[in-house]
Amino acid sequence: MNVKPQVFVTRRIPEEGIKILMEHCVTEVSDFDGVLPRETLLEKVKGKDGILCLLTDTIDREVMETAGPSLKVIANYAVGFDNIDVEEATRRGIMVTNTPGVLTETTADLTWALMMSIARRIVEGDKFVRAGKFRGWEPMLLLGTDVYGSTLGIIGFGRIGQAMARRASGFNMKVIYFDMQKAPSQIENELKASFRALSELLREADFVTIHVPLTSETYHLIGEQELKMMKKEAYLINSARGPIVDEKALARALEENWIRGAALDVFEREPKVEPKLLELDNVVLTPHLGSASYATRTKMAVMAADNLVRALRGEIPPNLVNRETISR
Ligand code: GLV
Ligand code: GLV
Repeated sequence: MNVKPQVFVTRRIPEEGIKILMEHCVTEVSDFDGVLPRETLLEKVKGKDGILCLLTDTIDREVMETAGPSLKVIANYAVGFDNIDVEEATRRGIMVTNTPGVLTETTADLTWALMMSIARRIVEGDKFVRAGKFRGWEPMLLLGTDVYGSTLGIIGFGRIGQAMARRASGFNMKVIYFDMQKAPSQIENELKASFRALSELLREADFVTIHVPLTSETYHLIGEQELKMMKKEAYLINSARGPIVDEKALARALEENWIRGAALDVFEREPKVEPKLLELDNVVLTPHLGSASYATRTKMAVMAADNLVRALRGEIPPNLVNRETISR
């Protein structure tokens, strides 16, 4: 007998992914247009063999317990997996997968756009024109900061951080980076990037951009003290995870001009945004769009579905996060 495994998808993702799941599994896709309420999530995961979830779903011990012993895999539709209690999953022998690689360039593109937008005051300029305030060219209108030739400080030199360094060469930028691990010198040479201690990077960079995962070590990595180390003319850009930056401290830094500006794609308490930030012109805000291109979201759907199906077939899924689960 060949009984198809049961999977639950917490929200509609591109069809290409759903199609793969439907070929191999009895697939239930939530039709709720929003973050699934907790009770619904708990109800729906009962007895499932696999869950395909989003970064907005908190997959903790209770979810795994409620799903029951049939649950073998949790496939996250994201590269970051701080929404999943991986330790608990590992303890239960549940595989966790993510979608690395496919969104690297798309996220670096968005981060670059944020940097350009805040440096050259694109959003303020747009609002200005729409408000009917444009009365012709002016010598001192909306002056900004040159990106070309400036110093880029990259915190977290993984795939996305390195993709930022690659873009920086076209802008003749000096690239410095901080990471828990120094990159091999071959990579440093290729990307013309030099290692700095975090405090050195903060003092030296004109643009500081964050590309570390959210962990207990990176929570509030950038707080009041760090913001005060930055140059008064510098900018902070975050497209990684909100809680890496102390958002209240950042709002104060922007209001009191400790730094010149910031651009944020992620927030500490999504979808909430620190109210002060909404009132300030020296910050650009986007709603977690890092991987949001048509092509990339499709690739992520296929990747997440493929990870899930392979895990349920007893194979090692290509993007397994907790390898400890396969040695059992
Ligand atoms: C998006 O934030 C992701 O982690 O994929
Ligand atoms: C994510 O893809 C990273 O490692 O930067």
